[in-house]
Amino acid sequence: MSDPTWRRHLRPTLAALSIYDVAPSRAPSRLHANECPEPWPLEVREAIAGVVRELELNRYPHTSGQTLRRVLGERHGCDPDRIVLGNGSDEIISMLLTALSGGPEAGHLVIPSPTFVLYAHAARVLGVDVRAVPLTDALELDEAAMRGALDGAAICFLARPNNPTSSLWDAELIHALVRDHPDTVFVIDEAYADYNPGCSLFNPDGPDNQVHMATLSKIGLAALRVGYCIATPELARALNKVRHPYNVSQTSIAIAEIALTRFADVQAQMIATTIANRGRLVELLRRLPDAEVFPAHGNLVLVRFPDDARAHEVRDRLAAVGVHVKDVTGVPMLGGCLRISVGTDEDLDRLASGLGL
Ligand SMILES: Cc1ncc(COP(=O)(O)O)c(C=O)c1O
Repeated sequence: MSDPTWRRHLRPTLAALSIYDVAPSRAPSRLHANECPEPWPLEVREAIAGVVRELELNRYPHTSGQTLRRVLGERHGCDPDRIVLGNGSDEIISMLLTALSGGPEAGHLVIPSPTFVLYAHAARVLGVDVRAVPLTDALELDEAAMRGALDGAAICFLARPNNPTSSLWDAELIHALVRDHPDTVFVIDEAYADYNPGCSLFNPDGPDNQVHMATLSKIGLAALRVGYCIATPELARALNKVRHPYNVSQTSIAIAEIALTRFADVQAQMIATTIANRGRLVELLRRLPDAEVFPAHGNLVLVRFPDDARAHEVRDRLAAVGVHVKDVTGVPMLGGCLRISVGTDEDLDRLASGLGL
């Protein structure tokens, strides 16, 4: 007899999944979450406080964040109606998977591996079949294996630059995959693209099976939870049917607008400082004789040590001086690896002292 309790109604796909959880860190140098490490100056925070004070907290925001979509439309040179906002790009990932699954053909998801963990997690919640294609040893896309897996795929997420590897996959190969698989939606996730100026593949007149996805989380506004995608009008309409109304709060909309318009130059400086500090972080890590530092294109650096034990020793030495980094030794293909987000000057001084550099 079937389980007589409410449990029998639980979606069976949930049983094998774990909760995506990141324990809060109190470390003085938090280099484990790929945030922008530079703080906003006091004068900006004061201007934001003024904007927040004037909010009509008793009123609903616009159902789809129209004013922020206009700001983003100008930034990207596209019709704001093609832009869909999410409560972080995490929500966009779920909306895309919901909209593009459940059809009669049950198309699968293709992702390179390793990549951002939430693509597979969100797909598995919905029961979408996930085909993970291992990267090459150089952490590049494996063209033949990708082409094989893409046959019959409904959707493919390509993070560029990628997390956790910080690699920037070949643009020509991605253009070719998009062209040769017109019945698959390719989501180019450019969460970290600001850290590699000029790398964006967004083209307002690009193919209709290519979606641009981005987030404010990595460029100084992680607390707001604002992500977005730019899709063809038809796919944007489908996503808006999936999206909950009012999914982004008026507080987040108002703060995002002022940050992206009035303080765009401050934000650009925060990003430029982080890019410069990435150079310093790479240079510091290269001084460790047994470290292999992979080419870094995001605000994160992947470094490999000869084995997991040595990676753990480095992780623990850094923790002892208050530097929290991400241990990715358990991720397929990343044995012996740590992922270290770029920090401020002070963070990097601390890291250097912890490593005796
Ligand atoms: C590649 C990539 N995409 C998307 C996200 C999610 O960002 P958000 O904070 O907008 O949900 C992350 C977060 O780490 C990421 O690494």
